[in-house]
Amino acid sequence: MNDIIWQSMPRVDGLDKARGKTEFIADRSFPHLLHAYPVFSTISSGRLLSTNIESAESTNGFIAAFFAGEVPGENRIGVIVDDQPLFVHDRIRYIGDAVGIVVAETAENAYRAAKAVDVIVETDSPILSIADSRHEQAPLIHETNIACEHRVLVGDVDAGFTASNHIVTGTIKTGYQEHYYLEPQGCVVVPEDDGTITVYGSIQCVFYVQKAVARNLGIEYSRVRVVQTPVGGAFGGKEDIPSEVCARTAVAAWLLKRPVQMIYRRADDLQSTSKRHPAEISYKIGVDDTGKLLAGEVDIHLNAGAYATLSSVVSFRAATQALGPYQVPNVRVHSTAWYTNLPPAGAFRGFGSPQATFGHERMMDKIARQIGMDPVKFRMLNILKPGSSTTTGHHLDTSVGAEETIEAAVNLAGYSDTSTKCKQESDERYRYGIGASACHYGNCLGSPGWALDGSAARIQIHRDGLVAVAYGLVDMGQGAITVVAQMTAEALGIDPRQVTVLQTDTTNVPDSGPSVASRNVVMTGNAIRSAAGKIVESLCKAAAHKFGCAEDDVSYSNGAARRGDDSPALQFVELAELMYLLNLPMDALGWWHVPELDHDPETGQGEAYFTYSYATQIARVRVDMITGNVKVTDVWAAHDVGRAINPAGLEGQVEGGVVQGIGWALYENMQMNNGKISTDNLSTYLLPTSMDSPNISSVFVENAEPLGPWGAKGIGEPAIIPIAGAVANAISDAIDRDVNEIPIHPEDLLKLINESLSTGRTV
Ligand code: MOS
Repeated sequence: MNDIIWQSMPRVDGLDKARGKTEFIADRSFPHLLHAYPVFSTISSGRLLSTNIESAESTNGFIAAFFAGEVPGENRIGVIVDDQPLFVHDRIRYIGDAVGIVVAETAENAYRAAKAVDVIVETDSPILSIADSRHEQAPLIHETNIACEHRVLVGDVDAGFTASNHIVTGTIKTGYQEHYYLEPQGCVVVPEDDGTITVYGSIQCVFYVQKAVARNLGIEYSRVRVVQTPVGGAFGGKEDIPSEVCARTAVAAWLLKRPVQMIYRRADDLQSTSKRHPAEISYKIGVDDTGKLLAGEVDIHLNAGAYATLSSVVSFRAATQALGPYQVPNVRVHSTAWYTNLPPAGAFRGFGSPQATFGHERMMDKIARQIGMDPVKFRMLNILKPGSSTTTGHHLDTSVGAEETIEAAVNLAGYSDTSTKCKQESDERYRYGIGASACHYGNCLGSPGWALDGSAARIQIHRDGLVAVAYGLVDMGQGAITVVAQMTAEALGIDPRQVTVLQTDTTNVPDSGPSVASRNVVMTGNAIRSAAGKIVESLCKAAAHKFGCAEDDVSYSNGAARRGDDSPALQFVELAELMYLLNLPMDALGWWHVPELDHDPETGQGEAYFTYSYATQIARVRVDMITGNVKVTDVWAAHDVGRAINPAGLEGQVEGGVVQGIGWALYENMQMNNGKISTDNLSTYLLPTSMDSPNISSVFVENAEPLGPWGAKGIGEPAIIPIAGAVANAISDAIDRDVNEIPIHPEDLLKLINESLSTGRTV
């Protein structure tokens, strides 16, 4: 019954959110609730000598303060690498390192008491840049200043350059990006009478939090229950961080045997939590005289901040996708993430792909211009097609829609007409330009994360014919609840209104890995199909009993069971009651994992991911030559999503991703002074508003992925990945000058424009 999926469905949670009825973690109340706040380091680098709580103790409502020595279990955290203390016991590595936690009667009391704790330190000089961290004599932040390294090596790069007719070099830089989820980090931890502990919170990865809390309290995983509360935005910022937020709160709750709530204030949230890695990437790329890419050498440097968190995922993705969705036979990529005494950089929508894509797409335009070829034609010539191999030697056969996304975006934009018009409409004050940008994005966790790449869904049928579905990933605002309801309804042939999607809870389903990497629809969808298959067996058993026939003679489709073709049908609701009366299993657990991947981490060769989403976005900009202001007027986006489960939801993802990416490209400007963020609110850290949003048109290229549920692939991250490159290419087109650094602020752009004037170039 294909009128459930592949059709737009309104957001299940939309009305409550629009009406302000949704309860976020800060809205939740518990009996005997106490409030906590962390004691943060105010220096970037040094040693913790002691803490003095005398002044804190005399503040209103003070209850207790806990430090490293009081952590019941191991005092360590870290999603992939164990390099972070839950509470600092010796070395301080950034402003925002947590030294301890204070508990008080109210949230305000806790905040004041935490700020009143005297933290006595010995400071040393911090490392504040990649260059400082790389310096030969640089002091070491951990055992080394290298958080991680990745390589992709294929072919003979030197021979490739020798054979090239043109060699183009360039360097790009990208800045920080702050998630700026509207709802800050927060949780409530409740010690239960039976010796277990329940954590409620604004969480992307409930199973990460479960592990962290169990480890820091020194108790079994089975005694920690994590329940996700509705999330007011995450974007990767609630992947790693809630583990520390919840584990610190859990220490306080456990020791005091009282429920404790902790909600971060914005300035501290901004200062202490992860952001998008700033990147510096240099390129040397060779092409033959027809414009075919022959060789590419890419050197990637990422600013990891004080702790590794998700740096290895970011670096792996940046390396794997360094040369984009193109065929390049000879490749040498080296990516390094460097520790600095700055806030940790972590997961942010796209994990290193936005940085890599900004770089390869700037370079593709630069090469095309240098060899006098239209940038779109140049991309079409080199793009990955069915039958080609990625730079990691992954042979692609199915669902390779890269070329079609270029064609679709070009059609949608009326590319050549729009391009001509840009030139015609430009005058002395306003210049118009157009730019394209393409990307591929490996779905799910890929080869390094394969062990975590399985997910569950549990479908429970109630006697009244209503259905509950539990899944192990979460809705963080992206619309998962709606597609989970849609996919469950589709799999059982029932109305989505018969389906209730349960809030994610670690006691409902087995560990399903993290809600990241655009993996929700693929993983949960396949798990739902597997669970529904078992439910349908029971439905058929019940029908066979009623019909008095063999099970093999029963068929189930469109929500009803039939014997042969002509028998009267038994509807799902009747079958549910029958199943109950016949003592048939009323629930089923479905599980799906990504197929095993064959990949060599030394050379970066093999199947980095099991499949890829592809996208092309085209932007049109207007540049004010007097003020340097850039207005993105239009964006045309084409995404290969396999099959669109909920087209309206996809459109929403694309629009959100485009606008968020425009913020990264044009507005966001993280200012720090010795590691202290000075742009710590929305009056100084500018995000695009609806007034800054361009007209966005999107189209979906449907190139079914055989392993995707109903053909689907991920969209969450591809939505943001290409846009910064498209905007920068459009600006470069408008002013005839390479824009290789983002954010692109009016001052910087004016400088570029004036430079071109003084060098006599026509702008
Ligand atoms: Mo997201 S960067 O996949 O947490």
